[in-house]
Amino acid sequence: MNTVLVGAQWGDEGKGKVIDFLTEEADVVVRFQGGSNAGHTVVVGDRKYVLHLVPSGVLHEGKHCVIGNGVVMDPFDLMKELEQVESWGFALKGRFHISERAHMVCEWHRALDRAEEAARAQDAKIGTTGRGIGPAYAAKVGRFGMRVGDILRPDFQDRVRAQVEEANRALTALGAQALDPEEMVRLYAPMVKALMPYVTDTIQFIHDKLDAGANLLFEGAQATMLDIDFGTYPFVTSSNPTAGGACTGSGVPPRKIDRVIGVIKLYTTRVGEGPFPTELDDADGETLRRRGGEFGATTGRPRRCGWFDAVIGRYAQRVNGVDYWAMTKLDVLDTFPVVKICTGYRRKDGFVYTTFPADLDVLKWCEPVYEEMPGWQCETSHITRYEDLPANAKAYIARILELIGGKLGVLSVGPARETTLRINI
Ligand code: IMP
Repeated sequence: MNTVLVGAQWGDEGKGKVIDFLTEEADVVVRFQGGSNAGHTVVVGDRKYVLHLVPSGVLHEGKHCVIGNGVVMDPFDLMKELEQVESWGFALKGRFHISERAHMVCEWHRALDRAEEAARAQDAKIGTTGRGIGPAYAAKVGRFGMRVGDILRPDFQDRVRAQVEEANRALTALGAQALDPEEMVRLYAPMVKALMPYVTDTIQFIHDKLDAGANLLFEGAQATMLDIDFGTYPFVTSSNPTAGGACTGSGVPPRKIDRVIGVIKLYTTRVGEGPFPTELDDADGETLRRRGGEFGATTGRPRRCGWFDAVIGRYAQRVNGVDYWAMTKLDVLDTFPVVKICTGYRRKDGFVYTTFPADLDVLKWCEPVYEEMPGWQCETSHITRYEDLPANAKAYIARILELIGGKLGVLSVGPARETTLRINI
């Protein structure tokens, strides 16, 4: 059984926890896009682990973890994270693999990310994580990127110099400080030794595992509405976190994917700038943030919070072909007397959009159309069987499923591993 797991909203749906749960049945966990802009939180017992680049499968001994070709990887972030994982007591030897085709995020990409964001007008700021993701993908698509495999080339140091000189032209034009190419060579030259043990042809590795009948889990970072093609462009990340990205970012053929699981939070959040139709700027929004602990795992920024948006849910179901939903954070809604679901965006002239518009300006002239449902006003985080949920909570979930399509597979009612209810999968 090969599974792709994706986020349905603007990230932070609780993917780390669901991946951790699904990893129990997987032999190999593969990251296929993004980089250390991601932050996957997993709580085991009373310990909380936050991972950025390394697949969450690393917290399960014996599972293989792959950084696929679609990832942009900062070698320093990676090394730090690997050391941390080992200090937590998880061995990596022989089970951690980096694609030689993955691209590197380097110091000059980070500098460009910061300089480009600073140069944007206030209403054009993306609110990037500052991890160099956009510039690294721009270099990849522009065909002057640095692949992980390049560290083994005899001209590696010359390539570093050439890259820095190229970046310096843009940095100085943006009024930012240029970087010293020789210092960058000194910084990146030791990478060869550090990364070498892990670098491999992961396409071969993945296909060997597929041929041997192994179970593969493809772990998406970020989410549908941050997708460079399907998201709220230009307020998006620079990769394809949607299901198709699993194929292009790892080399798995589409026909080898057996199911797609979408992770969706039972309300909505967003970090960074960009449109967010159901955003709440009131006490209800504050309650969601406080009860949901809605602060970024990577940047610590407070997340913007709002009601569940079924327009987005339906869109994500279609774009990804979600078979099963992993619905998360039901417990955060426990105290509300009324819960709301957005079913469309109403324009001033009365027209209602029930699909997500490509032109973001449209949203400025719209307001969300809400359905209101009675809340359940009791604690759900101790519940271990779906049948035991309060009737109003079940009705809320059922209405959402009716609106967005797909089946319920997993329901999460709290942060710990034990609070994940398995329903249909
Ligand atoms: P970048 O990926 O750092 O370029 O940031 C682009 C946009 O994606 C910004 O709005 C970020 O806040 C958002 N973003 C990137 N990674 C994540 C994530 O893992 N969770 C939530 N938002 C993210």
